[in-house]
Amino acid sequence: MTSSGSDKTQNQKLLAWVDEIAALCQPKDVYWCDGSEEEYDRLCQEMVDGGTFIRLNEEKRKNSYLCRSDPADVARVEHRTFICTPNEEDAGPTNNWADPAEMTETLTGLFKGSMRGRTMYICPFSMGPLGSHIAHIGVEVTDSPYVAVNMKLMTRMGQKVLDVLGADGDFVPCLHSVGYPLEEGQQDVPWPCDADNKYIVHFPEDRTIWSYGSGYGGNALLGKKCLALRIASSMAREEGWMAEHMLILGLESPEGEKTYVSAAFPSACGKTNLAMLIPPEGIDGWKVWTVGDDIAWIKPGEDGKLYAINPEAGYFGVAPGTSYETNPSAMDTLHSNCIFTNVAMTDDGDVWWEGMTDEKPAHLIDWKGNDWTPDSETPSSHPNARFTAPCNQCPSVDPAWDDPKGVPISAFIFGGRLSRTFPLVFESFDWEHGVYMAATMGSEATAAAENQAAIRRDPMAMLPFCGYNMADYWQHWLDIGGKLADPPSVYRVNWFRKDENGKFMWPGFGQNMRVLMWIIDRVRGKVEAVESPFGRMPLHDDIDWHGMDFDTETFYQLMEVDREAGKAEAADQKTLFDSFKDRLPEAMERQRKNLIDRLEGAPEVWHMEH
Ligand code: GTP
Ligand code: SPV
Ligand code: MN
Repeated sequence: MTSSGSDKTQNQKLLAWVDEIAALCQPKDVYWCDGSEEEYDRLCQEMVDGGTFIRLNEEKRKNSYLCRSDPADVARVEHRTFICTPNEEDAGPTNNWADPAEMTETLTGLFKGSMRGRTMYICPFSMGPLGSHIAHIGVEVTDSPYVAVNMKLMTRMGQKVLDVLGADGDFVPCLHSVGYPLEEGQQDVPWPCDADNKYIVHFPEDRTIWSYGSGYGGNALLGKKCLALRIASSMAREEGWMAEHMLILGLESPEGEKTYVSAAFPSACGKTNLAMLIPPEGIDGWKVWTVGDDIAWIKPGEDGKLYAINPEAGYFGVAPGTSYETNPSAMDTLHSNCIFTNVAMTDDGDVWWEGMTDEKPAHLIDWKGNDWTPDSETPSSHPNARFTAPCNQCPSVDPAWDDPKGVPISAFIFGGRLSRTFPLVFESFDWEHGVYMAATMGSEATAAAENQAAIRRDPMAMLPFCGYNMADYWQHWLDIGGKLADPPSVYRVNWFRKDENGKFMWPGFGQNMRVLMWIIDRVRGKVEAVESPFGRMPLHDDIDWHGMDFDTETFYQLMEVDREAGKAEAADQKTLFDSFKDRLPEAMERQRKNLIDRLEGAPEVWHMEH
């Protein structure tokens, strides 16, 4: 079998690799994706004919499809995700490690004949605007047409990428198989996968990715978490830039002044919501512009500032909880040209999910294909049901969202889901302190038992995505600061603090704008701040309260620092730090001790003077 790609590209490395993979995986044919609309429509129609896709009501969701995955293949599989560095220490204690040679042997065995009876799709893609000096090219070889059409929405994909790649350009080889070969005469299933043998494997040294057994999201759309975060973070360290699990947004003041910030939150903690925020009532003339909702690639420019691009071209967002209340821009992005995975279908051929409307439809077909009514005991959509939508359909998409230069970043924001201890917002004293604040970030695993809810540390929201030793990654962050004329300020935010009755103290969503505005005022040197043991905080009157009736006492409670809770937090961070042994940058432990010192000098309950 020949890959017959020589009319598409003269890149010998690519042609040779495709031939090698075709020989290994033994597909029935090889197809080079050109990335055209015609091709997209054809592949989608083939999936409709084959029972993988359901075409939605053309009047309600134009040119859109519903897909139901195998119930055993609904999310990323972190325990099956591997970083294969020659030395185990280089992957670090927060990653699963495997020996590169041994893993290559295992995978070669699995991929042998894995595409029998299927088409092998070659998807050349660019992460970042084509030709941008911050962008990188990957080529995903997959036996899943679902992956091919999602890659078309999520990346710049097709012939135009091969044209930029040229004969000598370099790319990241990304091999993917659902691991469900078809024997002669065997009937296919709507969602082929290997239900219990999955491998998501990264070789940072060779810059290659092998993914086996899953068709879902970050496991299978290899440009996203695998390339744009795990492999890219390792490339970025070598080359002096940053690959981060961050949204990018621009805030425009009524005077037309625009400030860009980047914000990291763990998965399912509200990046998409924040990236598309609509200012609340009372905040007139301000606008939030969306550059990206999940990943940022950030490079120091010659002017000593940091410039960021969104390497993606689409949103792969959590559907449940998305509504005209919580995220109108996302809702308006989803009117057409979308793929919905694991949501429910209405009787008139539209989609529905938990939280979309207050009133539940009387009847649905749930994500498993069964009848559903409001009396059903299980949710109609899977909690990790997702939409795939093109960025340029978002009403708040920034005019510079695909500017190859990137946008200048003035602040970094970090937040998790923390019901206790952590105030609404605080600012770092300096870069080193900011890196410490980001490194010790966490989120609660469960809201069930408030008091015992354990913090799952998620440094920079990168725990599942850092392609090398996390301690070296912190050192890289520290080093980047040293290269900048004036490193951005770092902020911790927490929309999730609860009162003694277990109720959120802060309304969140659109109201988060007020916190962003304070951050911008600080960046622009317009307001003073108050020093707390955790960091600098806003004065009550420096937050714009127009149009919001928020009790002043509640604000002070929201900003409180409990000395013993703070010390317990600092003590708990030690477990994470100790796991890195002598790789831990000294600065991290120094900052932890500084925090303890500040807490020891603080009253039992620190609160702002008022
Ligand atoms: P990934 O795509 O998985 O990386 O996640 P994401 O960060 O984009 O998360 P997503 O936007 O899907 O997170 C949505 C969840 O965060 C929902 O449960 C929302 O209700 C919740 N959420 C978002 N913003 C807020 C907020 O301001 N306050 C509160 N309390 N919840 C929020
Ligand atoms: C995440 O889990 O952080 C996601 C979804 O953004 S996925 O692409 O499936 O990893
Ligand atoms: Mn994510």
